[in-house]
Amino acid sequence: MITAYDAPFGRYAEEAGIDWILVGDSLGNVVLGFDETTPVTMEDMVHHTAAVVRGTSRAHIVADMPFGSYQVSNEDALRNAIRLIKEGGATSVKLEGGSDEAARIRAIARSGIPVVGHIGITPQTAGLGPGYRMRTHRDRLLEDAYAVESAGAYAIVLEVVDFEIARELTQKLSILTIGIGSGPHCDAQVLVLHDALGMYAHSPPFAKRFAEIGVATVNALRDYATAIKEGEFPTA
Ligand code: KIV
Repeated sequence: MITAYDAPFGRYAEEAGIDWILVGDSLGNVVLGFDETTPVTMEDMVHHTAAVVRGTSRAHIVADMPFGSYQVSNEDALRNAIRLIKEGGATSVKLEGGSDEAARIRAIARSGIPVVGHIGITPQTAGLGPGYRMRTHRDRLLEDAYAVESAGAYAIVLEVVDFEIARELTQKLSILTIGIGSGPHCDAQVLVLHDALGMYAHSPPFAKRFAEIGVATVNALRDYATAIKEGEFPTA
């Protein structure tokens, strides 16, 4: 699984043989220029999910539920999940939180919409509690993961969870675990596209940079500007 936020990168991911695309609310950080994910709106998520869906034909598209779209009530959560499916064209939705959000997951899953849970670091609320540090509280993680599973989620993202706890969760849960910064023992892995492609100078320590697209882009644009200034392009 990789994140994508628009049609061309959805298409590239599919062409690369990646099975699942997450339209993450990391959209806020990597595309919209915010420092965090909390300002991302339902309109943003529907708009970008629909773009990814238009660029793809077979990938399973998971759309993130942004902060504020599910915390208020089960009805709100269900209404917004339905928008991501009907207007965005997503295949399933993801929301952050463990036991605290089990009722929301249950309400959405019962309506027939497949749900992915997300525990460990939960960026929407990372300003509370231990911030971006690795999650090592085994009992709490197990309790949250079981709550997500029994509420009806079909998969769960484990973000920066102690590797051995991630391994234990992968063995014990009947639903898929999708790791990010949680070691090699999860059923699947996800990375943020911009981290994997090296689009920014800094990426999280757990993310591998498979390319340096940021540098390549600046070089290409510099060549373009130089070619115009020096009269090499366009040619007569
Ligand atoms: O928003 C996102 O990209 C995510 C991943 C980090 C899992 O939730």
